[in-house]
Amino acid sequence: MPPIPSPQTQQPAVKLYDFHPPMEDFRSAVLRGLGLPQKQFSPQFLYDKRGSELFDAICQLPEYYLTRTEMAILRDNAGAIATALGHRVLVELGSGSSQKIRILLKAAPQVTTYVGVDISRQHLQEACAALMADFAELEAIAVCADYTKPLPLATIPELRDRPTIGFFPGSSIGNLEPAEVIAFLKTVAVLGDLIVGVDLKKSAAILEPAYDDVQGVSAAFALNVLTRINRELGADFDLTQFEYRAHYNEAAGRIEMAIASLCDQTVHLGDAKISFAAGETLRTEHSYKYTVDEFQLLAMEAGFQPVQVWTDADQLFSLHHLKQM
Ligand SMILES: C[S@@+](CC[C@H](N)C(=O)[O-])C[C@H]1O[C@@H](n2cnc3c(N)ncnc32)[C@H](O)[C@@H]1O
Repeated sequence: MPPIPSPQTQQPAVKLYDFHPPMEDFRSAVLRGLGLPQKQFSPQFLYDKRGSELFDAICQLPEYYLTRTEMAILRDNAGAIATALGHRVLVELGSGSSQKIRILLKAAPQVTTYVGVDISRQHLQEACAALMADFAELEAIAVCADYTKPLPLATIPELRDRPTIGFFPGSSIGNLEPAEVIAFLKTVAVLGDLIVGVDLKKSAAILEPAYDDVQGVSAAFALNVLTRINRELGADFDLTQFEYRAHYNEAAGRIEMAIASLCDQTVHLGDAKISFAAGETLRTEHSYKYTVDEFQLLAMEAGFQPVQVWTDADQLFSLHHLKQM
């Protein structure tokens, strides 16, 4: 698919390369997920405009230690990370509001081109525009794409023949199953070196509230996917008949997030009828937690050499610099 520059005129102008999958792919993926014995959706479906806003609200919650801890690690090690970036084009995967990157851009004025890759198009464009407004020398390019698929960076003229480095913060890598992590890292190896945020193993007493806060923002974020499917695909999920749950499966090392049906019910989506038994769950996300060694082993299996890992004093979160072997 050829890149489609944004027709919108924003100040400052952000170049958008739009590889967002078509609505038909969304419909078929949703139906496929609802047809599995364990009903499930890909986590990327959580991020429409409203989902991105709700995720930003989660990042501000006292229970959600991940964002503030990773930002502190970035701040505390900004000089060393800026050196690791060199003069390369900085490509952020799942860039969201592009807040964390600001810490690095301040420390690395030699980086003059930033590429935000995200599935949530409008949020992405706004975040890149805000970056260009605040960093006068920076060119920010928005690429709306699914980062689990081969990145279409070769089709972007600004990136041709320029060395890149990948930045993948926020523990998004934890959404992938461990075997998928290896395949994913091999795919994004096209970016060269990577700096990856990885949440560390810890007690359920810390983990579960981070993913199921008292104010119910995490619940609203997860349930928003049903609102999105109702709106975009014409389904009739009754949100009062579902509830959000998050549980730490310690043996598997992952938080399991799901929407549970509160009764026996049938949901309609076009011609399809989807039955839910009372208590049946629809998986929205897994979030895997690793020790530093466990993650480095996966990275090495994918052909990367761990060169540096930065963590906080409480060993809550880790940031890995991986080089291609
Ligand atoms: C957990 S948030 C992290 C946001 C930000 N990087 C941070 O660290 O706070 C995940 C981000 O990745 C995006 N995303 C999720 N799945 C994606 C996919 N398959 N392809 C592209 N973007 C995706 C979401 O829209 C969202 O902005």
